[in-house]
Amino acid sequence: MFGNFTYCNPTKLYFGEDALQGLRTELPRYGGNVLLIYGGGSIRKNGIYDEVLALLREAGKTVTELPGVMPNPTVDKLYEGVRLARESRAELLLAVGGGSVCDYAKALSVSVNCREDPWEKYYVRFEEPDCPTLPVGCVLTMAGTGSEMNAGAVITNPGTKQKIGHVFADERIMPRFAVLNPRYTMTLPHYQMVAGIYDIFNHICEQYFSGEDDSTSDYLSEGLMRSVIHSGRLANRNPQDYEARSNLMWAATWALNTLLSRGKSTDWMVHMLGQAVGGYTNATHGMTLAAVSLPYYRHILPYGVEKFRRFAVHVWGIDPAGKTDAQTAQEGLQAMESWMRELGLVMNTSDLGVTPGMLPGIADATIVMGGGYRRLERDEILEILKESMQ
Ligand code: NZQ
Ligand code: ZN
Repeated sequence: MFGNFTYCNPTKLYFGEDALQGLRTELPRYGGNVLLIYGGGSIRKNGIYDEVLALLREAGKTVTELPGVMPNPTVDKLYEGVRLARESRAELLLAVGGGSVCDYAKALSVSVNCREDPWEKYYVRFEEPDCPTLPVGCVLTMAGTGSEMNAGAVITNPGTKQKIGHVFADERIMPRFAVLNPRYTMTLPHYQMVAGIYDIFNHICEQYFSGEDDSTSDYLSEGLMRSVIHSGRLANRNPQDYEARSNLMWAATWALNTLLSRGKSTDWMVHMLGQAVGGYTNATHGMTLAAVSLPYYRHILPYGVEKFRRFAVHVWGIDPAGKTDAQTAQEGLQAMESWMRELGLVMNTSDLGVTPGMLPGIADATIVMGGGYRRLERDEILEILKESMQ
């Protein structure tokens, strides 16, 4: 049965080549002290930094900079941000970058006024904030995570080799606004572009491979997946294809802005496996997902044959005539594999730095979710991880 739910997504989006002008509307709504958060320097090279700073100056803001947010942001970087946000009395956290920078800003939002250790509170005990939070705005430079329109924030603790995501329950943690200019994504290295494309695709899979109901969400998912497959191919062949990059950016937002999961259960085991791999290797998020996906999906296929058959027919256009459901389902995964290879994704965890000695630790670090077609036992996780190395 289609489940009961509440739906609220307050993030205001500005989309297109002139989207940054939206800052002219947004900035006056917040206090004068802005913490400008960004990554390792790509925005300085491609000119986005200059454009954003000009608009901040025009709005009369006092800007404190917090550069150096790394891919897979760490808990130590979070502590550094807490100190700087307090010292500068930040009133708006403006994230300019990819999912890591946006996630980081949200983690900071709930940590600045937190009296306890935020890692322990949000990432070990999974509690919700009970302190005032700071508003977050995003200028997105990479399509993939959906962080620009959700309340998720993934933080890595290198000391404990844990990479943990907390999806906050309160929609106030979602960015208040997000600027989405597809042209900004065009300076991404190919490796990051395709990692992002697979991240989008897998977010949809995670919400699709669950449940047996006739769910509108699944039909939405199928349409989005087809768009990502098509636009992913076009962008892979020609990264300067504005239409393809626009479609990918828009699909990324809708793939994980809380819409697709309404009324149904969700899986998320590829992400749990991928995050555990990420905790050990610090590898690029989308590549960790690509490397574990096929062994995982082949493992759970027998428990969800009907859905995998539907995936093959509706998403990949496989003709089911004269085939068993299992055969059709397998052909769907083969088609997915061909597309992944065409994009040039990393298809095994060895290439991401996983060694056999790490497998028991990665298996222990894998959080087991129960919403998909199979609740994995530890020996199954180990088996999948072993296969992912080849
Ligand atoms: O740091 P800079 O110099 O900006 O370079 C970044 C980084 O090296 C670069 N980049 C971004 N935009 C660019 C660019 N380079 C050139 N031109 C541009 N326009 O790309 C590299 C990767 O950036 P990052 O932000 O790390 O990538 P992504 O957007 O994939 O974010 C990954 C993080 O998001 C988390 C992941 O776990 C990971 O920590 N996720 C967040 C989710 C959420 N909030 O819901 C869900 C996802 O499943 C994911 O877990
Ligand atoms: Zn993801």
